[in-house]
Amino acid sequence: MPISLVKKTRMRTTTKCVVLVALVSLCLLFIRMLNKPDKVVGIWNRGAPEDILQNTLLQPSEKLAHIPLKWKDDILQLLPKNSCKCEVEPTMDIPFRKELFGKPFAVNFTSSLDPSLLDKTYKIREKEYQKFKMRSHHPMDKLIIAKANSPLEYPIQGVEVQPLKTILIPGLSLQDTLRKVYKVSLSSTIGTFDTVAEVEGVTVKGIGEKHITLSSPHMDNLNRQLQLITYTNTAFHPNTADTVQFQTNEHTAMFNIKVRHPTMPKLYNPGSIDSSYNISALVTIATKTFLRYDKLQNLIDSIRKSYPTVKIIIADDSETPQKVEGPFIEQYIMPFGKGWFAGRNLAVSQVSTKYFLWVDDDFIFGPRTNIEKLVDVLEKTTLDLVGGAVREVTGYYTTYRQKINVMPGGKTGDCLMTQQGYHHLIEGFPNCVVTDGVVNFFLARTEKVLEVGFDPKLSRTGHLEFFIDGLGKLHVGSCDNVIVEHASKIHLSWSKTEVDKQYDKFRYPKSSDHSKNIKHHLYYFKNRLQCMTGN
Ligand SMILES: *[C@@H]1O[C@H](CO)[C@@H](O)[C@H](O)[C@H]1NC(C)=O
Ligand SMILES: *[C@@H]1O[C@H](CO)[C@@H](O)[C@H](O)[C@H]1NC(C)=O
Repeated sequence: MPISLVKKTRMRTTTKCVVLVALVSLCLLFIRMLNKPDKVVGIWNRGAPEDILQNTLLQPSEKLAHIPLKWKDDILQLLPKNSCKCEVEPTMDIPFRKELFGKPFAVNFTSSLDPSLLDKTYKIREKEYQKFKMRSHHPMDKLIIAKANSPLEYPIQGVEVQPLKTILIPGLSLQDTLRKVYKVSLSSTIGTFDTVAEVEGVTVKGIGEKHITLSSPHMDNLNRQLQLITYTNTAFHPNTADTVQFQTNEHTAMFNIKVRHPTMPKLYNPGSIDSSYNISALVTIATKTFLRYDKLQNLIDSIRKSYPTVKIIIADDSETPQKVEGPFIEQYIMPFGKGWFAGRNLAVSQVSTKYFLWVDDDFIFGPRTNIEKLVDVLEKTTLDLVGGAVREVTGYYTTYRQKINVMPGGKTGDCLMTQQGYHHLIEGFPNCVVTDGVVNFFLARTEKVLEVGFDPKLSRTGHLEFFIDGLGKLHVGSCDNVIVEHASKIHLSWSKTEVDKQYDKFRYPKSSDHSKNIKHHLYYFKNRLQCMTGN
């Protein structure tokens, strides 16, 4: 080969290499540009909201402290105080009083508790209550006062009264320019106004009515009176709001007073007060079985290696159910072939712990099936449900993270879009992300899942449907460092047992058109969707 030719080839190779390197780096750059770095968001539980005590609302600011007033005891005692009592009110002794009106009673729950445990139980209860308050508090419940852009100052949000009860309205005042007479009025639709004291130099009209007018030649006196206005809800409704109008001659402001009962807490005793987790007290393992008793037994055996005293709840709709024996096991027999979601519903309805772990009956606990890690995520964040990973026999891991989106579609119904992936990483939990749907191996807050429920109409197949029903109700996460094994799923047809064949017949029917039809009908009618896209 002549030298020049060798050189040429070499040169060509070099050029090719350079081009190739450039192309590859360009590609990498492009891929990096597509894959923006993951966002990390803190979703730690924040502190519980402070209660606004009505007593502090009664205190005047320094500027208004000198204005004389006369308290009205009858109205004052209507205001909520943190000192309720259960005492039998003394009544007149009349004949047949018991038969006519029943026997009055008062029970103090404290006295039926073991005195030696009282202190501990109280502390655990308060700790769980603070967590509950953090979770049930909504940003819209926070009291916000609109400072006087117009001359009117008033609460934008965060005013709340119990049905048929009385409160002070916080944050009302007038900041006007010099006038001869200052005059404001308040109107409501399902409540009345009163004053808790009469302030000197203020004329009030409409006491005990839906429309109240206050006027005074002194703005400070009027403002002191405005601090002492009460609102009494007069039409019972357990959860509604009254829109109040606050007016001067030239300006109108409107704000809402929420009318509702306090959210009744439902607390679970976590079994210990220190920071370690007692999994038996916190978690129930729930599963649904159909025919596959050998697989179920393997699952139970594997659970018992690490969690000997955690309760296992089994919903079973086999035709000829076999008894599943063992300590801390509850088996619920259902009508034959009731189905997948009905079974989930039944199992979860029987859970009496704060959390439950959902597993399929053909899963196997392994060394990385660490429930404590999932409990830690739910205890420390605002998540309601957190999925783990399922390792298939092929070695492939499934987390099945799905983002779910609803796009408005007008009269014909909305459009649903599902997309693999997640919204963001979770601060402090490097293996976890926030998403909308996860694999059928998850730890969940029992209360929240009961709110959503599993639609029993989905009998044969169904999974994502639960997360679609839970959209906007559940805060969902997924962690890939808690892993359960999936016992053989791929079966060669000649190695299948009779049970396998029977199972397949039910779970994956030949004409799956019927179950698809049911699903589509549910999407269309129940969820008011017209179509769905996904990947
Ligand atoms: C209930 O009983 C406990 C102790 O016996 C007592 O401290 C508490 O004040 C009682 N509560 C009421 C509302 O009477
Ligand atoms: C954990 O909880 C279980 C069930 O409530 C209880 O029986 C057990 O004593 C608790 N264990 C510890 C160490 O507190």
